[in-house]
Amino acid sequence: MEKSLGKKKIAVFISGRGTNLKSLIKYSKTKKSLFKIVLVISNKSNAKGLGYASKSKIKKFIIRYSNKKKFEKETLKLLNEYKVDLICLAGFMKILSKNFIKKFSKPILNIHPSLLPKYKGLDTHYRAIKNKDKYSGATVHIVSEKMDSGKIILQEKIKILKSDTDKTLEKKVLKIEHRIYSKAIIKLLTTY
Ligand code: GRF
Repeated sequence: MEKSLGKKKIAVFISGRGTNLKSLIKYSKTKKSLFKIVLVISNKSNAKGLGYASKSKIKKFIIRYSNKKKFEKETLKLLNEYKVDLICLAGFMKILSKNFIKKFSKPILNIHPSLLPKYKGLDTHYRAIKNKDKYSGATVHIVSEKMDSGKIILQEKIKILKSDTDKTLEKKVLKIEHRIYSKAIIKLLTTY
């Protein structure tokens, strides 16, 4: 990726709660940050995360997903308009098409609450506990056309305790997510 002096422009895609968006916004406001968030896109009008964008006066758009082609066309137009360098999916519950990934032609990151390649998809904590795994964690990876696949940029693990439930594990892993997402972005911006 081109290393220019200006901060890289990021678009964050969400569908719900938005705590990862919140932590990315917080980091982006620090002096040392190499990126700024210029755009938040949600496919849900009631996504709680939209409130964090409003609070920080970040441009936000709700684009309905009922028609995938239309969603992707409108989204690509916005990404162009805002000169976005990198997309970060943060609890965005839809799969982007091969065509979209190709047309955007810049990196797209996703954060996932498991030690990928284990447990793609939903209910990751429940599955890790059920399988009596010793560790769980979070992964930031490049988005490819296959769900929760693509090159891993950063991963951090945590021990699963006997006393853990899917709820307690979710809380602990979410804390990791909030810490590693900005780290992974910096790693991507400075290494690749
Ligand atoms: C996170 O656990 C993330 O890893 C997954 O969806 C959840 C989104 O949480 N992809 P939030 O909306 O960022 O609070």
